Amino acid sequence: MDLDKLMTKHLTRYFDGSRTIPEETLQQLLKFLRSAPTSVNVQPNHFYVLGTDEGKRQLAENLGERFADNGEKIMNASHAIIMTTRVDVPDEHLEAVFDKERADSRFPDPAKQSHWESMTRDFLNLRNYGYKDLNHWMEKQTYMALGMTMMAAAELGVEAMPLEGFDPASVDKAFAIRETGHTTTVLLALGYPDTTKAYTTPISRFEPGRLFTFA
Ligand SMILES: Cc1cc2nc3c(=O)[nH]c(=O)nc-3n(C[C@H](O)[C@H](O)[C@H](O)COP(=O)(O)O)c2cc1C
Repeated sequence: MDLDKLMTKHLTRYFDGSRTIPEETLQQLLKFLRSAPTSVNVQPNHFYVLGTDEGKRQLAENLGERFADNGEKIMNASHAIIMTTRVDVPDEHLEAVFDKERADSRFPDPAKQSHWESMTRDFLNLRNYGYKDLNHWMEKQTYMALGMTMMAAAELGVEAMPLEGFDPASVDKAFAIRETGHTTTVLLALGYPDTTKAYTTPISRFEPGRLFTFA
């Protein structure tokens, strides 16, 4: 990965609509996304991977009126991912996490698995009834997966553009997402840049003195 290039680069606003991510690269990226860690392994996400014109149009046309500008980015991207997050953690979901952990022999010692499960339940109760931020906390996990996937895309030579410009109610409705217990958190457009429209100006970021405190 060329970090110097990444540090000076604008996010891609214009994709080349004629280019598609090769299937092998896409699968590698999705494999990476699947591997992203989440706090207490809660795995609160479902991802809609839109690679057809129909799928992308369904998203582009349902971003909500004030966000129509993002439609072109989505249509010209090779793929767009709707990153959704659970709104709560029903017992069925938690049991599915634990069943998978047992099946994968995450803890070879069953006593350790039981201990882990009770710690996880405690932690989720704290988020739910103590901090009262269960969905917000899970959405933070989604953003971490977003950031990691953006870096993985860079490594694979794919441009990744996160999009917050959409109306979640509208996107959720278009893909019947709330019916599944999830809601849309953020979008990720993936593809290759339109080189005829690349930004040539420098990026603008605060100086280190405002960002870092050393002790
Ligand atoms: C999480 C996230 C969401 C963003 N959503 C949008 C968006 O919906 N539409 C858009 O045009 N730009 C979007 N951007 C781009 C930012 O506005 C942009 O990265 C920022 O202004 C810095 O500009 P630069 O990338 O050109 O340096 C988003 C960026 C991030 C990190």
